[in-house]
Amino acid sequence: MTADIPRIPANAPTEQIVAGLSEHGAVIVEGVLAPDLLARFNAEIDPILEQTSPERSYLNPLIDYFYGNRVRQITGVAARSRIFGEEILCHPFYTTVCDAILGPNCSRYQLNVAQVMDRGPGAEQQILHRDEDVWVHLPRPHAEVQLASVIALVDFRAEIGATVVALGSHRWERGRQPKPEELACAEMPAGSAVVYLGSTIHAGGRNATSDRWRRGMHMSFVVGWLRTEENNYLATPLDVARRLPRRSQELLGYAAHDAIAVGGGYLGAVDLLDPVELIAAGRL
Ligand SMILES: [Fe+2]
Repeated sequence: MTADIPRIPANAPTEQIVAGLSEHGAVIVEGVLAPDLLARFNAEIDPILEQTSPERSYLNPLIDYFYGNRVRQITGVAARSRIFGEEILCHPFYTTVCDAILGPNCSRYQLNVAQVMDRGPGAEQQILHRDEDVWVHLPRPHAEVQLASVIALVDFRAEIGATVVALGSHRWERGRQPKPEELACAEMPAGSAVVYLGSTIHAGGRNATSDRWRRGMHMSFVVGWLRTEENNYLATPLDVARRLPRRSQELLGYAAHDAIAVGGGYLGAVDLLDPVELIAAGRL
């Protein structure tokens, strides 16, 4: 691995982050989660991870193979972590970047999936993949539909399986596979994130240690007119969502996607009304 992923501080102008993503397909954003927020989130999920087994079942054998049996996962994070639901999900960094990348292509974007992935000793490198391939039926080329990231919740080093990225692969023709020297390793301090486009080839790295865990969280957003990878309404049901900030409710998909002003229609209505408004009015 010889390539270097560009590094940009989280408080840099959004245009700089967007330009980096557009040119390289991925950037490391330093200091996305402030130390205090990071520490509180880690403390909140410590006991959950302790009770989580890396051996679990998945919806089909291919997903089983993809994740392997050395990874402890927390899904439905908004329902299981108050700090995530109130502070990380609606973090202003993601709002500004998603506004710029996804905003032009939808009336509203939403959380696709947030998933803590604590990759344990012996975890093999994931298959190199593009996250947006979950929407394989979407014709190409297409506008950006996904903004993805992996937040380092501990210091990410190559030996514990820091994410690897093929820089520039968002522009490659389909089928081109990266050569080893085209892969860059997202080594970064805890609280930083590797942010990438849905079309950028990447993988969780191999954890070559015998006793260290690579705790990270995948968090990605998608245009509001595509189905999300995690069923966020069921993973964070209404009883939980009611207690979250309205912005988090919207990002979990409780808001309608209303494209009527640009000649489209609406999606996700309840009784022909916007669910997030019904929640606010105490009617849902
Ligand atoms: Fe991925």
